[in-house]
Amino acid sequence: MSSLEGKVAVVTGGSSGIGLATAKRFVAEGAYVFITGRRQAELEKAKAEIGKNVTTVQGDVQNLADLDRLYAQVKAEKGVVDIVFANAGFVEHAQIFDLTEEHYNKTMDINVKGVVFTVQKALPLMTRGGSIIVNASVVGVKGIPAHGIYAATKAGVRALVRTWVQELKSKGIRVNTLSPGATETPIIRGQFDSDAASEAAKKVFAEATPLGRIGRAEELANAAYFLASDESSYVNGIDLHVDGGLAQV
Ligand SMILES: NC(=O)c1ccc[n+]([C@@H]2O[C@H](COP(=O)([O-])OP(=O)(O)OC[C@H]3O[C@@H](n4cnc5c(N)ncnc54)[C@H](OP(=O)(O)O)[C@@H]3O)[C@@H](O)[C@H]2O)c1
Repeated sequence: MSSLEGKVAVVTGGSSGIGLATAKRFVAEGAYVFITGRRQAELEKAKAEIGKNVTTVQGDVQNLADLDRLYAQVKAEKGVVDIVFANAGFVEHAQIFDLTEEHYNKTMDINVKGVVFTVQKALPLMTRGGSIIVNASVVGVKGIPAHGIYAATKAGVRALVRTWVQELKSKGIRVNTLSPGATETPIIRGQFDSDAASEAAKKVFAEATPLGRIGRAEELANAAYFLASDESSYVNGIDLHVDGGLAQV
């Protein structure tokens, strides 16, 4: 029997990158997966790639009504949630000199508020216990210019997880963060004006990473699968860095 057989998982931001790779892995391991994202066309493409045992629910994690609609659909179709991968995230460059209130609010609202309510609204359906994984970032423990608010959001969710471990301990729910290093997904290109600038940044990250390259989404999915499954049954409250050593040296 596959180790996620019979499990129901929710993956926010499951239409691209790390979320999509993880949704594929969860389904390959026997789970039924609900994936979310704002762009319907990307969700449809992802659904076709995943192939089976997947429902798409369009929505924005900042919007509490969208999250209510997501979990209403999960409840109607499956009645339970075993695994939450709060993965949807946003990054844009802005230094302290010129960052705007709009930048601050958008980054906080997607990366912190979105995670908080993705988790809170899942809890009534987590009646069999389970595993919550929050996608953070090694940037939460680094000082990288133009990533200040993003770093604060990722350090912030790591702090929330410590609290949730205590608050959820009587419910049989484990909570951990996963912290990727630089990983090959569309989020990198989205931070730059040109392909050349994006490729140059990837080269810088690869050179700073002891393994000499940036990560693949599937390598993050391996770690998310570990945290989701009983393979990690005694792992609780950690921040699992999957970064080729980038933040470890
Ligand atoms: N790739 C890296 O180098 C790296 C490193 C460290 C941490 N991370 C973290 O990993 C997570 C996943 O990023 P990724 O690299 O896989 O990026 P990605 O390929 O761009 O995927 C991001 C996913 O999140 C969705 N999303 C974004 N904003 C959303 C919102 N407000 N509501 C709902 N869905 C939303 C996107 O779909 P829509 O745009 O259609 O909504 C997409 O499905 C993020 O939390 C990111 O901070 C990534």
